[in-house]
Amino acid sequence: METISLARGNPAHECIPVEELASCARAAVERDGSTVLSYGPVGGYQPLREWIAERHGVDPARVLVTNGSLQGMVFLAERFRAGRVLVEAPTYDRPLKILAAHGVETTPVAMDDEGLEPDALDQALRVGEKPAFLYTIPTFQNPSGRTLSLERRHRLVELARQHELLVLEDDPYGLVRYEGASLPTLFALEGGERVAYSSSFSKTIAPGLRVGYFVLPAPLERELEALALSTYITPVLLGQATVFEFLRRGNFEPNLERVRSLLGVRRDAMLEALERELPGARWSHPEGGYFIWLELPEGTDTAALLGPAGEAGVTYVPGADFGGAQNTARLAFSFVSPDEIKEGVRRLAALVREPLPV
Ligand SMILES: Cc1ncc(COP(=O)(O)O)c(C=O)c1O
Repeated sequence: METISLARGNPAHECIPVEELASCARAAVERDGSTVLSYGPVGGYQPLREWIAERHGVDPARVLVTNGSLQGMVFLAERFRAGRVLVEAPTYDRPLKILAAHGVETTPVAMDDEGLEPDALDQALRVGEKPAFLYTIPTFQNPSGRTLSLERRHRLVELARQHELLVLEDDPYGLVRYEGASLPTLFALEGGERVAYSSSFSKTIAPGLRVGYFVLPAPLERELEALALSTYITPVLLGQATVFEFLRRGNFEPNLERVRSLLGVRRDAMLEALERELPGARWSHPEGGYFIWLELPEGTDTAALLGPAGEAGVTYVPGADFGGAQNTARLAFSFVSPDEIKEGVRRLAALVREPLPV
């Protein structure tokens, strides 16, 4: 029996425009090969930096393009080594590990269905050492799929101003929306002074290109550039130039539409399967992104259930890996087919109904 992965937060293979990217990579080398294949500006391929800067209404010098946005998180962790960072509870596990590896203490701040709780943030800002920054994923959060409401976005910006808090808004999923109206980013609401912004072409074009970016206050951008220089001299310009060629050809929006329709049906399949199979549970209802946050009945231990789940042919990530409660799990609908999603949820539900042997 094939194991169905509801764990992998990857795009389905069909999402990746392989042929078009092959053509873009070739064109990028033919047009600008001596730049793209040399050491070059550490901040990124200049035409791409300018494209990103224009999109966000900033000077290109504030844009740092990195080998995937996680690489930028490593630079931030180095920059704020041994400091303190506020994070959402739960949050994406990789930044938690990167921060811990650099001796950064993380303080979890509570969330509910509407995202980060502003009162909990206010409270967290009143105790202990001043945090270096708040790390937040306001839209289609990894792992919960939750989205911060508009009212709370305004509150969060107010709190950032009031407490002179730097906020890092990580937004790789915002454009991957299947329904509903987009909300303004914290970055746009605040004006980009206290709020830094990161995103990536991993979910909108292809993760293997490894092109992520940060829009930062100018002094911080220069500090991170210095760290990037001493790490890799130049980021992978070929990936960045390939992305730029893809954008230049006008492929971005049509590709996003295609990705939205491929993944939207997967999201629907998972919501329908949960409704049918797990009447005793709760889960988030994301309008986009890759993930659904499952809350099983009190007393269920999703980490203990993982072994039996593997034997039954389904995997997921236990919520505790993200700082969530024992009875929670992250289910990704992005990678497998709608039929596999239905079957995966059926297998999981059968296990949940069956008490674990003691
Ligand atoms: C919230 C979040 N930030 C960052 C990343 C990493 O993106 P990249 O591929 O650009 O390193 C991911 C990938 O899953 C993510 O979920």
